[in-house]
Amino acid sequence: MSFGIYIHFPYCRSKCPYCDFASYPAKTIDFALWNEKYADALTAYARRLPDKTVSSVFFGGGTPSLMPPELIGSVIAKIKALWKCADDTEISMEANPCSVDLDKLRAYRAAGITRLSLGVQALNDKDLKFLGRLHSVEQALRAVSDAKQIFDDVSADLIYARPTQTYAQWQSELDQALSLNLKHLSLYQLTLEEGTYFYKKGLEMPEDALCADLFTLTDRMTYQAGLPRYEVSNHAAKGHECRHNLLYWQGGEWIGIGPAAHGRFTQNGQFIATAESRIPAEWMKHTGGEEIVLTPKEKAEELILMALRTEKGLNRDAFKAALGQDFESFLDGEVLQDYQMDGLMVCDKKGLRATAKGLLILNALCRSLINV
Ligand SMILES: C[S@@+](CC[C@H](N)C(=O)[O-])C[C@H]1O[C@@H](n2cnc3c(N)ncnc32)[C@H](O)[C@@H]1O
Ligand code: SF4
Repeated sequence: MSFGIYIHFPYCRSKCPYCDFASYPAKTIDFALWNEKYADALTAYARRLPDKTVSSVFFGGGTPSLMPPELIGSVIAKIKALWKCADDTEISMEANPCSVDLDKLRAYRAAGITRLSLGVQALNDKDLKFLGRLHSVEQALRAVSDAKQIFDDVSADLIYARPTQTYAQWQSELDQALSLNLKHLSLYQLTLEEGTYFYKKGLEMPEDALCADLFTLTDRMTYQAGLPRYEVSNHAAKGHECRHNLLYWQGGEWIGIGPAAHGRFTQNGQFIATAESRIPAEWMKHTGGEEIVLTPKEKAEELILMALRTEKGLNRDAFKAALGQDFESFLDGEVLQDYQMDGLMVCDKKGLRATAKGLLILNALCRSLINV
C-alpha cells in the first residue's frame, strides 16, 4: 500500500480572488518555528505509524516556494530519518512563478525535490491581472523554462472557463501551454468558491454548455499532444502522472501535516480520517488536529467518489481488499444499470469507471449512485 506525506505551508504574497485554500498573505514568517513544528508533527506520526515506507511527499499551499530551500531540506531530512523511504520517492512542491529563480530552483533540487508544479494560471496578461496574480506571462514562461532545466518532472496549473473567455481564446492558450512540452498539466475550470472575493462579488460565470465544450476541447487537445487525461483535471505523458495525487484517488494512505491538512490511514484495522486546524496560529499550538474513525460505509463512499475521478476508475479487487465486499453492495443497482445504458459509466470485471460523457456530470451521477 502506498504511503504519502502532505505538508501544507499556509502563506502567500497576496490572496488570489478565486482561492479558498488555507492561504494567508504574510509579511514576516518565523521559518525556524515552522521547522520545529513540522518536525514535532512528523515525529508524533512516526511514533504511531513507524512501519510505513514513504512513496511520496507533497509540499502544497499556500505557496511552498516562499519556504527557504534549507527549510524544505530540513523537513525532507526529518522524514528520511523517521521512516524508510522508497528509492524512487516522489517529492513534489507547488511553486509560484513570482517566488522562484534558477538558483532557488537548483537549491530545491539539491534539498531533495524531484517534481515541481508551477502556478501559471493563464497565458495572457489581462487575465493574469483579473485572477489577481502578481506575475506576468513572461515571468511564468521564464519560471517554466528554468524549472525544465533543473527538474525532469515539471507541471503547470492553468485555470480556464474564465468569465468572458471564448472557445477560440482557450484553444489558442492551451495550444501555447502544450507547446511548452511539459509532461504534466493540471487544467482546472474556474470554480466560484464560497467565501472568496469572486464569490462575494457575484462573479458571472460562463454557461454550462460552454464549460462542457471547453472540457471536451481540453480532452481532445491534450490527448493529441500525448498528455491524456488521467483524472478530471490532470493530464500527463505516460509514466509522469503525479504519484502523490494518484494515492488520494486510488485509496492510498497518507498523513497531513500543517494547517488545513487532511490525512487518511488504517490503524489497528480502523479507517482513520484526520483534519488539522486551518488557522496557522492554532495549528502551531496544537499540531494534532481532529481525528475520526470512518465507518465502512463512509470509507466505501470516499473510495468510490475519489476513484471515479480517474481515467482507470475504481478497481474491483483493490476495493474488495479494502472493504471485504464488492463495490456493488454500496451502489444503487438500478441507477448503475441506467448509467451503463446511457453510456455514462462502464462496470465490468476490472471495476467501475465514468466515460468521457459521464465525467462531465460526475458529481450529479455520484449523488444518485451511492446508497448512503
Ligand atoms: C495551492 S494552489 C498552487 C500553488 C501556488 N499557490 C500558486 O497559486 O501559484 C493550487 C492550484 O489550484 C487551482 N485553483 C485554486 N483555486 C481555484 C478555483 N477557484 N478554481 C479553479 N482552480 C483553482 C490553481 O490552479 C492553483 O494553482
Ligand atoms: S492560488 Fe496560490 S498564490 Fe493564490 S492565494 Fe491560492 S494558494 Fe495563494
